[in-house]
Amino acid sequence: MTTTRRTHQAVRLDWPRLRARLDALGRVGALDGGGVCRLALTPEDKAGRDLVVGWMRDLGLHVTIDAIGNIIGLRPGLEDGAPVMAGSHIDTVRTGGLYDGNLGVLAGLEVVAALNDAGVTTRRPLAVGVFTNEEGARFAPDMMGSLVYVGGLPLAEALAVEGIDGRTVGDALSAIGYAGPAPVGTPAVHAFVELHIEQGPVLEEQGIAIGAVEGVQGISWTDVIVEGTSNHAGTTPMRLRRDAGYVATAAAVVVRDLAARMGGDQVATVGALELTPNLINVVPGRARFTLDLRNTDEARLQAAEQVAFAEIDRLAAAEGCTVTRRTLARFEPVTFDLAMVDRVEAAARARGLSVRRMPSGAGHDAQMMARVCPTGMIFVPSAGGISHNVTEHTDDAHLEAGASVLLDLLVDLAEPVDPAPG
Ligand code: GLV
Ligand code: MN
Ligand code: MN
Repeated sequence: MTTTRRTHQAVRLDWPRLRARLDALGRVGALDGGGVCRLALTPEDKAGRDLVVGWMRDLGLHVTIDAIGNIIGLRPGLEDGAPVMAGSHIDTVRTGGLYDGNLGVLAGLEVVAALNDAGVTTRRPLAVGVFTNEEGARFAPDMMGSLVYVGGLPLAEALAVEGIDGRTVGDALSAIGYAGPAPVGTPAVHAFVELHIEQGPVLEEQGIAIGAVEGVQGISWTDVIVEGTSNHAGTTPMRLRRDAGYVATAAAVVVRDLAARMGGDQVATVGALELTPNLINVVPGRARFTLDLRNTDEARLQAAEQVAFAEIDRLAAAEGCTVTRRTLARFEPVTFDLAMVDRVEAAARARGLSVRRMPSGAGHDAQMMARVCPTGMIFVPSAGGISHNVTEHTDDAHLEAGASVLLDLLVDLAEPVDPAPG
């Protein structure tokens, strides 16, 4: 115990170094006016990956790329075996910020750098994982790389997924040179810890520095296509319309009302909506929209799905339109290992940081890793609860505090070995 504490004190984060890496990665795919766009498996994602892989090699990590493009950087321990892994993602939504995903990866690298600086070896190996296509904004489902890693989706199925631009995951992965030779799912992981921004308002509103994440809410993603008849906007009487655009926009209202009626944790979003032909004087003959439903309670999420789907069918039938639904992602709520939640809480307290237990509203690679090993998540506050938005922001003091908790947790789990005396 004394030994561990002494070793811990010697391992120190270099905050300016972590800040510099966050900023450098934030310049890859930077958007005019702020924020970043590094949709999964685009040239921008490749450039971000190349930067991170370069940093991993500079830190002496042994880097492997697997067949779904996950990047694992391994720092050997005194003993072989399953590493303690920190990880997250560096792909972003089209309007991403500097921290969603990137923080967990780069803070993991900073822990490695801090161990290197202090000359500390750990008994278990330590790894930093960068998982492919966490966002799911280009290719569904989200958390794809980590899902394949834990055996939740066959590799061939993932590679065959078509993105919003018609390109498959397999093609895009090969095009950026990240279809690697390593078998997916290796190495097996001893424990996984993901540091992430909260992406919601709770920590900031309550003035709390650290969230000890207890689990992730269930996610239901559906692609809906409505077919009607395109016709002249001026001449087609209302009684003769088969307006796919009306059905889609009415559906958005219906699911919004449904979430309000259900209350609690239920949320509902129509995030993508395309009308065809999308012209001012043409009744839309076709509409495509996405439905994102989430709840911390599986039974309530199922109830929301049933009502939403029935209402959409009813709206379409009344308008003489047809509906085709396709599930893009469906994940039940996940509960993290209680001992890991306790560890996050204790590590925050030991640093004198305020902490509360909370669920995650967003999806994370950690929810997939939880299927195969004890997994924990550390949240830090998001200014104004804003995320998936170029103005996403977290104060430096909060970022540094979160990284410190990650450091303490990883070092504890990996078990530092005191340097031999003399
Ligand atoms: C993924 O980041 C999601 O929660 O949508
Ligand atoms: Mn994320
Ligand atoms: Mn995200």
